[in-house]
Amino acid sequence: MSSEYIHGYNKEEQDRLIHQAEFLKTYVYEKIQMAGIHHLLEVGCGVGAQTKILLDIFPHLKVTSVDISSTQLDVAKKRLSKYIEEGRLNLVQSDATQMDSLSDNSFDGAFLCWFLEHVPDPISVLKETRKKLIPGSRLWSSEVMNWTLFVDPYCQHLLKYWFEFNDYQWTIKGHPFIGAQMGNYLTHSGFSNVKTDVRTWFWDDRFPVQRKEFFDEFKDLFYSAAKELKKHNRVDQDLIDNMKKEFDERSLTSGSVLYMSWMRSEAEA
Ligand SMILES: C[S@@+](CC[C@H](N)C(=O)[O-])C[C@H]1O[C@@H](n2cnc3c(N)ncnc32)[C@H](O)[C@@H]1O
Repeated sequence: MSSEYIHGYNKEEQDRLIHQAEFLKTYVYEKIQMAGIHHLLEVGCGVGAQTKILLDIFPHLKVTSVDISSTQLDVAKKRLSKYIEEGRLNLVQSDATQMDSLSDNSFDGAFLCWFLEHVPDPISVLKETRKKLIPGSRLWSSEVMNWTLFVDPYCQHLLKYWFEFNDYQWTIKGHPFIGAQMGNYLTHSGFSNVKTDVRTWFWDDRFPVQRKEFFDEFKDLFYSAAKELKKHNRVDQDLIDNMKKEFDERSLTSGSVLYMSWMRSEAEA
């Protein structure tokens, strides 16, 4: 894990992850087919926000989910106790670069979501994940490309804050635009049949409901890093307040536009 984690591990952030996963589920799971998969390895599961969705929409699946943080896994354990009792879920605390407690060649699918941006060496995570997969198994990942965020009319504070957010994440060895590298990283980790699909959210006056919902969701995402950014003198209270004000104004203003892209990747072990 990078030496610090930009979002932190507090209850508010854990709730935000659950909300975010439910909010984006239509997009994240669109076109993902797991009919032939029996035992899925989920890497970087956090509080189990995606885990619950995976177990619900693919009722035949058995899932082993890995995270480095016991704080996150404790929440997952409470939330998902029903699936653990049913024998469908196994939670494992481990660094994803060295998942020694899992046998090699023992999973027939892997799933990673909003995760690799937080690790200093994503290729070593991908290589380790590949080792755990039976050759020929499929991996799915969804990763961010933060620089693609575009808001119109122009928002000075929002963009200033976003620069500090991403620049800080970069300095703690995260990778806030990793989606753009997934084709390279999967290839260099030994995967084959690597497919990348740039997915886009674009909301204007034709989609006022989605536009407002996405502005609100992004405001929460931005704000989730406020404490860390303030602690490291990246932002002050004025910038935080003005950033939030711009989000609120744009979310309700006719004529405003919100655009962002992210990367869905698929590959074969
Ligand atoms: C943004 S959360 C994403 C969680 C989940 N995939 C979701 O979509 O809700 C990123 C997670 O990666 C975990 N993490 C960071 N570095 C890790 C590492 N080296 N090995 C395993 N997990 C790690 C963090 O503890 C955190 O829970």
